[in-house]
Amino acid sequence: MERRRRGLCTAVTVAVAAAVALIAAMPSRGEAAYMSPDYYKATCPNLESTVRWEVARKINETVVTIPAVLRLFFHDCLVQGCDASALIASPNDDAEKDAPDNMSLAGDGFDTVNRVKAAVEEKCPGVVSCADILAVAARDVVSLSSGPKWAVELGRLDGLVSKASDVDGKLPGPDMHVKQLAAVFQKNGLSTHDLVALSGAHTVGFAHCTRFTNRLYNHSSDEATDPSMDRNYATQLMEACPRNVGPTIAVNMDPVSPITFDNIYYANLVGGLGLFTSDQVLYTDKASRAIVKEFAANQTAFFDAFVSSMVKLGRLGVKKGKDGEVRRDCTKFNH
Ligand code: HEM
Ligand SMILES: *[C@@H]1O[C@H](CO)[C@@H](O)[C@H](O)[C@H]1NC(C)=O
Ligand SMILES: *[C@@H]1O[C@H](CO)[C@@H](O)[C@H](O)[C@H]1NC(C)=O
Ligand SMILES: *[C@@H]1O[C@H](CO)[C@@H](O)[C@H](O)[C@H]1NC(C)=O
Repeated sequence: MERRRRGLCTAVTVAVAAAVALIAAMPSRGEAAYMSPDYYKATCPNLESTVRWEVARKINETVVTIPAVLRLFFHDCLVQGCDASALIASPNDDAEKDAPDNMSLAGDGFDTVNRVKAAVEEKCPGVVSCADILAVAARDVVSLSSGPKWAVELGRLDGLVSKASDVDGKLPGPDMHVKQLAAVFQKNGLSTHDLVALSGAHTVGFAHCTRFTNRLYNHSSDEATDPSMDRNYATQLMEACPRNVGPTIAVNMDPVSPITFDNIYYANLVGGLGLFTSDQVLYTDKASRAIVKEFAANQTAFFDAFVSSMVKLGRLGVKKGKDGEVRRDCTKFNH
C-alpha cells in the first residue's frame, strides 16, 4: 500500500550512483556491544546486496523513497528504540504509526521495508529482523543519493510493543528551539553535535506547509514573517503555501538540492533558508552555530559526523533475547 504525497510534482530522476568512501564502523560498546556488521554473514550472506537492489529499484519508481525511509528510521529509533515498532499496522488504530505525527511518515518508507523484507525472506527465511532491514535501508537511501556509505551494525530484534501513546513527547517538533531540541536528543544520549549532524537529513525530502506556515503568517515577533528567514525564500514559500493551504501540500525542505544528500542544508541555514524554526535556530543560536558553519564549509566533516551519529542513533533501545523476535511480516507481531 502506498500513500503518496499529493500536490507534489517530482519529475526527477535520481542519480543512483556514487558509492562514497566506505567508512569503517565505530567499535561497539554498551548495550549494543554484541551488534556487528557481520551478524548475518553466515546466515544471510547476500543480505546487503539484496537490500541495496530492492531499495534502488524502489527509488527508481519514486524518489520519495529516500526521505521516507530515512525519516522512518529516525522515528523508529526515538520511540521504543530501533526495533521496527513504528512498522506495526494496527487494526484498532492505536499503534505507533497511528499517533498524530504519523501523517507525516510517508507510506513509501513502510512500503520499502515490506518489499525488502519479502525479498530477504525468499533468500533467508526467518533470519533477518525488520529493525535491521530498516537500518540497512536507511544507510542505502543515503548512499544512493550521493551521501556517505558506512558499515551498519546489525543484530537488532523486532520489538513486541507498538503503542500510539508511546510517541507522545518522544519526537522533536518543528517549532522547537535549540534548548528543547538538545533536551530531546540528550534523553537519547545524543549530543548537540549529533543534533546538528542528524538534522542534515533535511537535505532531502518534503515538508507539509502546515508544519511551518506559522513562520510566514503569524510569527510571534512584531513581524508577521520570521525575521530569521530570507525575504525571497519567504515570498516563494508564501506562493507555494498560501494562507489556509490544504493539509496535503508539501514543499522541498532543501530548496537548492532537494534529492541529493549533501551539505547544502547547512549553507542554506547560513543564508536564512532553513525551513523549520528547528532548522534555522541551529544557526541563529550560538550554541550550535559553529557546527553549522563547519558543516557548511566542509562536506567531509558533515559526512563523517553524520555517519557516527547514525551509528549512535542505530544503537538506541536495541532489543535482544526475550525482549524481541524476528518478525515474519514487518507489519505484524508473530503472535
Ligand atoms: C532535529 C529535530 C527534527 C525535527 C523537529 C524534525 C521535524 C520534521 C518535520 C516536521 C518534517 C516534515 C514532515 C512532513 O510535513 O511531512 C520532517 C521531515 C523529515 N525529517 Fe525530520 N525532524 C528532525 C530531525 C530529523 C532527523 C534526525 C532525521 C533523520 C536522521 C530526519 C529526517 C527527515 C526527513 C528525511 C524528512 C523528509 C520526509 C519526507 O519527505 O517524507 N529528521 N522532519
Ligand atoms: C534503475 O533505473 C536505471 C535507469 O532506468 C536502470 O539502469 C537500473 O538498472 C535501475 N535499477 C534498478 C535496481 O532497478
Ligand atoms: C494517522 O492516525 C490517524 C489517527 O490518529 C488515522 O486516522 C490516520 O488514518 C493515520 N494516517 C496514516 C497516514 O496512517
Ligand atoms: C574537513 O573535515 C575533515 C574531516 O573532519 C578534515 O579531515 C579536513 O581537514 C577538513 N578540511 C578542511 C579544509 O578543513
